[in-house]
Amino acid sequence: MSVQVLIGTGDPALAAQLRTQIAELADIHVVGVEADSDSVLGMVGSHDELDIVLLDDDLGPNSGLHLVREIAMRRPHVAAVLLNDQLDEEVLARALEAGARGVLGRTPSLDELSSRLLAVAEWSRGVRRWLGTSDVGGPEVGGRRGRILAVAGAKGGTGTTTIAVQLALAGVRAGSSVCLVDMDLQTGDVGTYLDLVHRRSIADLVSVSNEITGAMLADVLFVHEAGPHVLLAPQEGEKAEDVTSSAARQIMGVLRSRYDIVIVDCGAFMTEGSVTAIEAADRAIITVTPDLPCLRAAKRLGQLWKRLRVRKQEDIAVVLTRQSRKDEIQPDFAARILGMTPLKTTVPPAFRALEKAINNGAPLRVDHDGFRRAMSQLGAELGILPATAIQPRGAPKRAKAEAT
Ligand SMILES: Nc1ncnc2c1ncn2[C@@H]1O[C@H](COP(=O)(O)OP(=O)(O)OP(=O)(O)O)[C@@H](O)[C@H]1O
Ligand SMILES: [Mg+2]
Repeated sequence: MSVQVLIGTGDPALAAQLRTQIAELADIHVVGVEADSDSVLGMVGSHDELDIVLLDDDLGPNSGLHLVREIAMRRPHVAAVLLNDQLDEEVLARALEAGARGVLGRTPSLDELSSRLLAVAEWSRGVRRWLGTSDVGGPEVGGRRGRILAVAGAKGGTGTTTIAVQLALAGVRAGSSVCLVDMDLQTGDVGTYLDLVHRRSIADLVSVSNEITGAMLADVLFVHEAGPHVLLAPQEGEKAEDVTSSAARQIMGVLRSRYDIVIVDCGAFMTEGSVTAIEAADRAIITVTPDLPCLRAAKRLGQLWKRLRVRKQEDIAVVLTRQSRKDEIQPDFAARILGMTPLKTTVPPAFRALEKAINNGAPLRVDHDGFRRAMSQLGAELGILPATAIQPRGAPKRAKAEAT
């Protein structure tokens, strides 16, 4: 279905110019022009298929920003784009703060108009799809319960974020609704790995954690074009402390009720938020590189979780990352040091492919078959992705021997 746009301006010349430009764009359709803020709100409330409102900042009697806020509250999936000739940082910041999806000059080029409208339409459709599958109310009681997977690092730099991001992408590819949460509250970099910039974070949900609605989530979450919805860590590390265990518990509960899979990047430093996520999770994994210091750190972390009654030892999964057959430490030996059995799936080293994917802002394109296969197998072994044939360790070798 074509993208439906409403124009809000009291300037007939501007309305005519925008209508003419949009008429040239395939699949984008102007549903009307309204000349005052009350009529715009009336149209937003009554037109169910509306995707975008192009709003003249000079529209009266209520200001453009006021209107943007009202639209965001009443129809969270409708994308408001403000038209203002003063395209400076302050205007942009005010507009985004109010909930606008962008700002355009009053006389945009056709290219600018087209690319902005298509980008925000995609966002709007993503939010609509999501809201369409769930209530715009509080958390469901006894309703759908998704699975929470917490991913924590035995030490920093062990591939925790890489695994959380890649499993989230694999979950979407498998047809699940996925929310990726950056609970590495002080140093979280999920946004960087997914090449996204977003001002809202989990900290914005803390003060309303007792009454989180669909509209609030839609406002705070980022809908990534590849499919996962992303709840970022706060940009200011000091806000990490705001995420108390009771707030984190509420947030996890709401997310679990709305998504098939919730993947939480807990980082390597335990905070109230990350500990609560680990406690609430159906599965918790510790990422470990095959070296003694890291294996010992994983063992200590497992014991800490046990002492804090966060998780029983037998209820913790350890995944060996950057593990290759050439390594001195192989899974059986790792198991002896850890006192826990690592998962069957190990993640192979894929330095160049991952570096390229991150540097190109293309997390989906990890050009390494072994790594991609490991992600599917890991997801299946953890029960969050459809089961694929999980090969027991050493099986490929035997299969090859049999074939020859
Ligand atoms: N399987 C892998 N093979 C090669 N490099 C990897 C692998 N997994 C992750 N890396 C690289 O290791 C670095 C750290 O990865 P990542 O950020 O995922 O780890 P982390 O545990 O989240 O780190 P931090 O403690 O900083 O949050 C990155 O450069 C990433 O590309
Ligand atoms: Mg990380």
